[in-house]
Amino acid sequence: MGNGADGIFFLTGKDFNNAGTASSNLKAVLERMGIAQDIIRRTAIAAFEAEMNVVIYAVAGMMKYRVTDTEISVTVQDMGQGIPNIDLAMTEGYSTAPDHIRAMGFGSGMGLPNIKKNTDNLSVNSIVGEGTTLEFVIQIKD
Ligand SMILES: Nc1ncnc2c1ncn2[C@@H]1O[C@H](COP(=O)(O)OP(=O)(O)OP(=O)(O)O)[C@@H](O)[C@H]1O
Ligand SMILES: [Mg+2]
Repeated sequence: MGNGADGIFFLTGKDFNNAGTASSNLKAVLERMGIAQDIIRRTAIAAFEAEMNVVIYAVAGMMKYRVTDTEISVTVQDMGQGIPNIDLAMTEGYSTAPDHIRAMGFGSGMGLPNIKKNTDNLSVNSIVGEGTTLEFVIQIKD
């Protein structure tokens, strides 16, 4: 085993001033560790989309990460409205974002599909009225 790392960032719903901070901090951690650029890029895209979904749709949440020699795993868990139909939510172009969110440039319905595309493993679990948990893994291959 070489050097690993882990950490946690807290996320606040509707806090658009700080939206994106957790994923950029995670990106900075990976850069300091000397992780390959493409792995960092894919992780940062997935983390950003998951973070924005918490800010837009949930009340509060957290992003936990763990980096080993072989993989980066990220868990983004929130307390919020939850997702009634996960298959539908995973569909490209499906969005329930209201107009004021679309006016900020979000709501293309591409976040979850992009997380899926950029990760090697994604699980989405949600309970309506309680919250949502995303777990994704990006393999590090040398
Ligand atoms: N953490 C979450 N809590 C509750 N609902 C969510 C959450 N994440 C996603 N959703 C639901 O799934 C839908 C699809 O999410 P997705 O991220 O793919 O698209 P979007 O956020 O609507 O638009 P984009 O990500 O392109 O800005 C959302 O519109 C919302 O209804
Ligand atoms: Mg989204």
